[in-house]
Amino acid sequence: MNIIFLGAPGAGKGTHAARLMAEKGFPQISTGDMLRQNIAEGSALGLAAKGYIDAGELVPDEVVIGMVRERLAQPDAQNGFVLDGFPRTVSQAVALEELVRIDVVLNLKVTQQTVLERLGGRRICAACGKVFHASRLQDDQVCPLCGGQLIQRADDKPETILHRLEVYREQTEPLIAHYQKTGLLKSVQVDGEAEKNYRDIMKALGI
Ligand code: AP5
Repeated sequence: MNIIFLGAPGAGKGTHAARLMAEKGFPQISTGDMLRQNIAEGSALGLAAKGYIDAGELVPDEVVIGMVRERLAQPDAQNGFVLDGFPRTVSQAVALEELVRIDVVLNLKVTQQTVLERLGGRRICAACGKVFHASRLQDDQVCPLCGGQLIQRADDKPETILHRLEVYREQTEPLIAHYQKTGLLKSVQVDGEAEKNYRDIMKALGI
C-alpha cells in the first residue's frame, strides 16, 4: 500500500509512520529526516536546506522532489511505503503523481494548542535519538536512557513553530482539497493519546 501522511507540524506523522514501519514493514520515507541527515553529513543538499529548515520555511520544491524521486526508486519502496512530510505543496503532489500511484492520503488533524504543547516540549537525545517531552523529564538536558545530551530542534523554538504552522496553512493545507477531489483522502483526529491515534489510523487505513 502506498500511503501519504498529511498533517501539520507535530501532528504525529513521524511517530505513527515509524510504528507502521516497525509493525507492517512499510518503509517510512520522511523528507524532514532525509534533509536533517544531509545537514548532519554536511552534503551540498544539506547546506542548501539548512537555512530554510531552521527558519521554518519549506525547502524549494525541486530539491525535495529530486530527493524523493531517488528514494522511491530504491528496492525497498517497490512494495508499499509511507510518505511522511511529502508532498507539502501542490507542485510536489503533481510531481509525485508522475512518479508513483498513491492508494490513500491520511490527513492527521490536530489543534494548534496540541502542536505548541508537543513541539515546544520536544527534546531529542543527540546520542541515541530517542524523543522525550520536557514535562516528563527530571533533567531536560540529559537523556534518561543513555546519558547523552538532549537537544531541541532549531525549528522547535516557539516563534518558529508558529511560523511553521503559518507555512503549513498557506502551502500545505490546499493539498486537502486537492486529494479530496481524487477521492483518496481520509481524516483522523489525532489530538489525544498516541496509542488511540494509532488504532484510529490503522482503522482508517483498513489494515
Ligand atoms: P519535518 O521533519 O517533516 O517536520 P514537521 O512535519 O514540520 O514536524 P514534525 O516532524 O515535528 O511533525 P510530525 O507530524 O512528524 O510529528 P512527530 O511524530 O514528530 O520537516 C522539517 C522541515 O524540513 C520543514 O519545516 C521544511 O523546512 C523541511 N521539509 C520537510 N519536508 C519538506 C517538503 N516536502 N518540502 C519542503 N520542505 C520540507 O511528533 C511530534 C512530537 O509530538 C514528538 O515529540 C512526538 O513524540 C509527540 N507526539 C506525537 N503524537 C503524540 C501523542 N498522541 N501524544 C503525545 N505526544 C505525541
